[in-house]
Amino acid sequence: MSEATALGVDIGGSGIKAAPVDIDNGVLLTKRQRIPTPQHSTPAAVAQVVAQLARHFDWHGSVGCTFPAVIKRGVAYTAANVDRSWIGTDVDAVLTEATGCPVTVMNDADAAGLAEVRWGVGRGQPGVVIMATLGTGIGSALFVDEMLVPNTELGHLVIRGKDAESRASANAREEKHQSWKEWATYLDEYLLYLTALFSPDLFILGGGVSEKADRFVPLLTVNVPVVPASMGNDAGIVGAALGARQA
Ligand code: BGC
Repeated sequence: MSEATALGVDIGGSGIKAAPVDIDNGVLLTKRQRIPTPQHSTPAAVAQVVAQLARHFDWHGSVGCTFPAVIKRGVAYTAANVDRSWIGTDVDAVLTEATGCPVTVMNDADAAGLAEVRWGVGRGQPGVVIMATLGTGIGSALFVDEMLVPNTELGHLVIRGKDAESRASANAREEKHQSWKEWATYLDEYLLYLTALFSPDLFILGGGVSEKADRFVPLLTVNVPVVPASMGNDAGIVGAALGARQA
């Protein structure tokens, strides 16, 4: 196998997905595998699943992995939608030990953003680009002239006294049984707030809802171009693999 491959692993709230990635071209080399995230998503339980995925691909090289938290030098500093016991855990070390492969972990939205900026809709976009992933929570990836400013956590900005992700994530829409139109007003308010703070040149919206962008993007009033992510479910896996090389 050439040096330009890494196993990309995307740790999400409902599933852990993996596939070998060609990191020169940003494409999966085989069909991805998915194992449901353990209900009690402790470090030991998640590490076991990541090890199982590495064994499935008989993987012995570099592994890049996403994690839904602030990650600095491999250590998790937050745990908004995962077990609290992750805080302070050296995720790199736990997963390296479990898989026997060198693992590099990064924030999930940062990974998806890296993939979109390298190979997707953010490619060649100068200025300030914000990718927001709308899922269980809201993840963010901030780019300045295609350079990532990591761990921005803009999903936790407070709007009208509430965590932004509790108002504008895809999960919030489902929990409140909102129509696309109702939810779009919350998303719009969020994007307007981000615009007031960062004056972005482009918003990229990721997460499963981005496939339904035609239902809500036309309803937004924010005066900045808003485009759906183009790499779909693969962005996290591909970005994580790229992160492994950059590390
Ligand atoms: C976490 C972020 C993560 C986002 C998306 C937020 O609750 O704080 O680190 O990127 O969810 O998973």
